[in-house]
Parts: sequence; C-alpha cells; structure tokens
Amino acid sequence: MKTVLITGAGIGIGKATAHAFAKDGYRVIVTDVLVDEGNAVAEDIKRAGGSAEFHALDVTSTDQTNAVIAAVETSSGAIDTLVCNAGIAHKVPLDDLSDEKWDHTFDIDLKGMMRAVRAAVPKMKEAGGGSIVCLSSIMGVAYGWDEHVHYSAAKSGVIGLVRGLAVELAASGIRVNGVAPGYVRTAQALSEVHSLGHVGLQAAAEFIPMGRVGEPDDIADVILFLASKAARYMTGQVIAVDGGLLVGRY
Ligand SMILES: NC(=O)c1ccc[n+]([C@@H]2O[C@H](COP(=O)([O-])OP(=O)(O)OC[C@H]3O[C@@H](n4cnc5c(N)ncnc54)[C@H](O)[C@@H]3O)[C@@H](O)[C@H]2O)c1
Repeated sequence: MKTVLITGAGIGIGKATAHAFAKDGYRVIVTDVLVDEGNAVAEDIKRAGGSAEFHALDVTSTDQTNAVIAAVETSSGAIDTLVCNAGIAHKVPLDDLSDEKWDHTFDIDLKGMMRAVRAAVPKMKEAGGGSIVCLSSIMGVAYGWDEHVHYSAAKSGVIGLVRGLAVELAASGIRVNGVAPGYVRTAQALSEVHSLGHVGLQAAAEFIPMGRVGEPDDIADVILFLASKAARYMTGQVIAVDGGLLVGRY
C-alpha cells in the first residue's frame, strides 16, 4: 500500500486531498496543527474502509517535522507522496507588515514545505523514487494581491522551490510539481477579514469563465493526478486550477 503524507489536512483542500488519496487506496497520513479536525478526517477515512492515521504537525517546527516523518517511515516505510499543503493567507497592509508577520507567513507557506521535503526525501531516494506536490496559488503564479504581499511572495517562492527540487531530485526518481488554485471555497477564501468572504466569493463566480468558484475536490483530484503514474513524465510544473480565471479575465 502506498503512503501519502499531507500537511494541513484537517480542513479545506488538505482534507479533500486526504479523502481523494484514501479512495485511491493510499494509506493517508493526515497532519495538521488542528488536532480535532485532523483526527476526525483520519476517523472518517477509516470508517469508510480506508487506512489513515493522524499526527499533530506544525510545519514551522523542524524537530516536529523530522520526528513525525521518521515515525511514519518506521511504521509504514518511505513516504511515496508528500503533499505540502499547509498555508496561511493573512491580510496585512504594507504599513503594518512587520518583519515578524512577513517571517511567520514565509515560515509556514514556503519554509514549512522545504522542511517536510527535506525530511522525507532521504527515504524516498532509498526507495527509488516518489512524488511531491506543493500548493502555490494564482496569487503566486500570475496575480499580485494587495495587502497580501508576503503571501504572494511566498506563493511565488513555491514555484522556485518546485523547479529547483524537480531538477535536483529527478535523477533519484522523485517528481516535484505544484498546483496553483484559483478561488476555492475553504475557510481561507471564506474569511471575511483576510480574504474575499462569502459575498466576495459569490461575486468572483460571476467573472470566472466556468461560472463558479472551485470546491476543494477540484484541487484534490489534480493533486492526485500529479502524484499518479499518469503524470510520470511531468516534473517542475505548477498547474493553475482556476476554472479559466487566469486565461479569461482581461
Ligand atoms: N482556498 C483558496 O482559494 C486557495 C487559493 C490558492 C491557494 N490556496 C492554498 O491551498 C492550501 C490549502 O488552503 P485552504 O484553502 O484549504 O486553506 P484552509 O485555511 O482551509 O486550510 C489550511 C490548512 O493549513 C493548516 N495550517 C496552518 N498553519 C499550519 C502550520 N503551522 N502547520 C501545519 N498546518 C498548518 C491549517 O490548520 C489548515 O488545516 C494553502 O497552501 C493555501 O494557501 C488556497
């Protein structure tokens, strides 16, 4: 049985990704700082006949990242697929963008991905390969997002992370790709304080060519594809999954 480890899998896109991999027959390692939500996802998967376990994991901690991945490798062997999904998007105007706020977003949204990759890769190499999928954003690949400069910068950084890792790890049989979601109906996008909120998401549906905002499953299925054998000749790519938003808004 293949093993997938997903960061930030208690809610939103990470949760949908956990269910998509479970349905595809993977053992799912659900990780998050949200302990109750993460445990509930693992329990739901098991109740449906799948294989899952929850580990508390804050991606800002190198020690915890290393410890959780080592524990998973001891019980399940090398991780086949790593999904670096955990992320925050806080609204902070430039005037208020302290070093601490900048660093906090980068610590989760970019460095947190590197921490998980760095911990999982040695055993992936020993096993002869694997795949890694990182979550960027349309705000990283194409748009600028006012009052979210740190987020946009971190999500652009994910593209560089994906490309660099893809080249460095290709000879080891490890593929590294990314997904750049458009507007997806999750707690992040529904936040009235930090993002579009309910009304903003509804308004966005009107200018998205496909006429609706994304659902977490829309993203999860592309992550599953990128991890699968169907994407065996793809590495270093970041795919926008946005209902036609980037190509259609001009
Ligand atoms: N929803 C969107 O419209 C959208 C668009 C583009 C990109 N994304 C990206 O997709 C990913 C998932 O976002 P989502 O919309 O499901 O958001 P969400 O807020 O619903 O979920 C984010 C998850 O990350 C976890 N997390 C936060 N800080 C963490 C930390 N320090 N350690 C471990 N986990 C942590 C949260 O607990 C939560 O489970 C993020 O990287 C996000 O930036 C989302």
